[in-house]
Amino acid sequence: MKSGSSGKRNKQQATVAQSKVLTEMKIGVLTSGGDCPGLNAVLRGIVRKSMSYDYRIIGILNGWKGLIDEDYLELGLKEVSGIINRGGTIIGTSRYNPFMEKDGKNLLVEKVQKAGFSSLICIGGEGSMHIAQLAHEAGINVIGVPKTIDNDIYGTDFTFGFDTAVNIATEAIDRLHSTAESHHRVMVVEVMGRNAGWIAVYSGIAGGADIIAIPEQKVGIEHMISVIRNRYLRGKKFSIIVVAEGCTFDLAEFQNVRIDTKNVKKDDFGRPRLGGISHYLAEEIEARSGFETRATILGHLQRGGMPTAFDRVLGTRYGVYAVEMVRKEKFGRMCSIQGNEMTDIPIKKAISRLKTVDPDIYDVAQVFFH
Ligand code: F6P
Repeated sequence: MKSGSSGKRNKQQATVAQSKVLTEMKIGVLTSGGDCPGLNAVLRGIVRKSMSYDYRIIGILNGWKGLIDEDYLELGLKEVSGIINRGGTIIGTSRYNPFMEKDGKNLLVEKVQKAGFSSLICIGGEGSMHIAQLAHEAGINVIGVPKTIDNDIYGTDFTFGFDTAVNIATEAIDRLHSTAESHHRVMVVEVMGRNAGWIAVYSGIAGGADIIAIPEQKVGIEHMISVIRNRYLRGKKFSIIVVAEGCTFDLAEFQNVRIDTKNVKKDDFGRPRLGGISHYLAEEIEARSGFETRATILGHLQRGGMPTAFDRVLGTRYGVYAVEMVRKEKFGRMCSIQGNEMTDIPIKKAISRLKTVDPDIYDVAQVFFH
């Protein structure tokens, strides 16, 4: 009897101790890299799911920079209320890399310990996942959530933000069609896509583009002009060319335009700031073919505003799943969606390469390049 009651008490004490550990679970969450529709849906998913485990969620403001600056905002019901349809990120973002600081690794570990974070959830793209991996190697419990409108993160079928960007770009192509047709012009539409042409291919197919140029596949300017001419000869006096911002051409392709390759500005991750290839292309096509050709750069319009329903759902699923990963201590891993199933892979694998455009999809697009 005696030993039975003390056993019971021990059990109770253990449960109290356990729940104390649980209530003290403090997770730091940050959004890093370019903003992206659906980020707030992820944050909301994280906070709401965490409530069922009594985890505290602390928003680290402005990406990894907030950790160094100790700039935090506790996220609760109030903070994430009414944000699922909002673009951007309520906790701010940056392309700051703490490993660029002197003794960055120790600084990071020190800041995580000082804040009392038991783990970190890093929501970011490829550059941010590289930082997450280094943080994991430094001994920090990190979970990755893949984010980018470019859809180029390896190991996941879709990143949130991509669907929204594709819909915005498709609507723009639809609108540009009116002008192209009325004025008998060639319109070159430049969409985002640094290393992969997913947005270009999806919006190009959906918008009925006549040519789609992506970083993964070379399309010569002469070929573009021959498509424009063929269309003209069959009575189509306008054409739409969709080009991904990361497309490169041999400089020799430009006989009439001089491309400035020297004065290219860099972003905070040290990558060239893209945007502008469509202007060179439009000028060259017009000079060579005689068809009036105009360029439109969609730029940040593709990243702004309300996420689509698809991205809100995907973002929410990622957020909820990320908390489950924390609970199961799946650190050093990134959540991913494969065939509509949520799963996770090592961050190291996700950053081992980029997910470039599936050649089968580009083959579908090419059917219409005549
Ligand atoms: O990485 C996503 C992305 O949208 C790229 O396609 C683009 O090159 C980059 O962000 C531009 O971002 P920013 O103008 O914020 O530097």
